[in-house]
Amino acid sequence: MTISQVFIFLCFLISLSFTDGTQLIIVNNCKESIWPGILGTAGYPTPQSGGFHLHSGEQQVLDVPENWSGRLWGRQGCCFDEQTGKGSCQTGDCAGLLQCRGLGGVPPATLVEMTLGTSKSDLHYYDVSLVDGFNVPVSMRPIGGRMGCGVAACEADLNVCCPSTLVVMKQGKVVGCKSACLAANSDRYCCRGVFADPKSCKPTVFGHLFKAICPRAYSYAFDDSTGLKTCKAPRYVITFCPPNYG
Ligand SMILES: *[C@@H]1O[C@H](CO)[C@@H](O)[C@H](O)[C@H]1NC(C)=O
Repeated sequence: MTISQVFIFLCFLISLSFTDGTQLIIVNNCKESIWPGILGTAGYPTPQSGGFHLHSGEQQVLDVPENWSGRLWGRQGCCFDEQTGKGSCQTGDCAGLLQCRGLGGVPPATLVEMTLGTSKSDLHYYDVSLVDGFNVPVSMRPIGGRMGCGVAACEADLNVCCPSTLVVMKQGKVVGCKSACLAANSDRYCCRGVFADPKSCKPTVFGHLFKAICPRAYSYAFDDSTGLKTCKAPRYVITFCPPNYG
């Protein structure tokens, strides 16, 4: 290498280690298109105006600021007017908009939730949640984190083993699987009211089923012990339809 090449390389390394925020690399490993939806928690920005299209095999890099908090989910079977960005999705739809602009997705949808630093700690907390049900397998994997950084994931297709009472069908196909809370909307299943604490809110038979199939996901309220991951990494890869890495 020449001196100038060494200099450029060093600048590159420095720029990598001094970026303030966190990089999220969104990968679509599914055979079909995914339209990720993104929603910043109140007070935090929403990148990409809240949604975009990822062809099969495509990826998109998002830079989110320090301490960013928000959620991301996959929408499937979408059809949008190219001029207006209006249309609909079979799952995860946000008022029929390509760019969700502050709206959440219609459940059931697998949610990737994260808080990338708080006023109390610079640690990152994240999970793949099935509390609002399931539509597509997804994982969140840190790159370059410290020891003990976990992978949050639901890598299996819960749609194929969804109990019939929880199934969501579109055009004759199972496209989603409701959680017990979503299906029953009762305090017991949703851990609300008198059930709003870990002692009285126990996982249901469905919570146990979800947990058995997706052990690295957050399957019911208060599933913090195995569902919630902690890390401090400069970047994370969020993969829809991740290959099973056991
Ligand atoms: C993020 O939180 C830390 C405390 O952990 C604080 O010092 C810092 O100013 C915050 N950064 C932003 C951009 O809010």
